[in-house]
Amino acid sequence: MNDEFSELRNQVEVCTNCTLHKTRLKSVFGEGPNDSKVLFVGLGPGYHENQEGRPFVGAAGKLLDDLLVLSGLKREDVYITNILKCYLPDNKAKDEEIATCTSYLDKQIALIQPKFIIPLGNVAASYLLRKFGQPIAPMRNLHTKIFSISTLFFQTKIIPMYHPAAALRNPGLKSMVREDWRKLGNLI
Ligand code: URA
Repeated sequence: MNDEFSELRNQVEVCTNCTLHKTRLKSVFGEGPNDSKVLFVGLGPGYHENQEGRPFVGAAGKLLDDLLVLSGLKREDVYITNILKCYLPDNKAKDEEIATCTSYLDKQIALIQPKFIIPLGNVAASYLLRKFGQPIAPMRNLHTKIFSISTLFFQTKIIPMYHPAAALRNPGLKSMVREDWRKLGNLI
């Protein structure tokens, strides 16, 4: 599996399947143990992630680190990736970019086979719920709900959460988001 992971990472590094490669400095494949029990999926790399080639290292990443502490999960024990692997200059993912890039995420999921998949934000939640045949809804109706998924190959639970950046943009959400992460720690 490590070989398949490295091969996939190499493909992402040189990918030119959509126009986002033009503004890419470093692709952001994701990081964490290849056999993590928990997989977090954000939207896509921002400015700092593009510089460093690592997910969630900017302002949203700092908040994610704090929220992980509340949940009792250790960053080094979980796998963190995104729907899109290249810098999203305006932070808005186009449908065709999502359709093109998620083949990489699909392969990561198939290799990791996590027990829990935690989409962060609406775009990741919609993609993952739709992929596994679940109904989609606004995040206010989805956050901390558990969707049990059973496929031919593995079983997992999807638990959507607000994107940390949503709490940065909307301070009114912050206390609820913190409560959600405490709850997540009990669910996992
Ligand atoms: N926001 C995301 O969705 N992903 C990152 O890696 C950083 C910010």
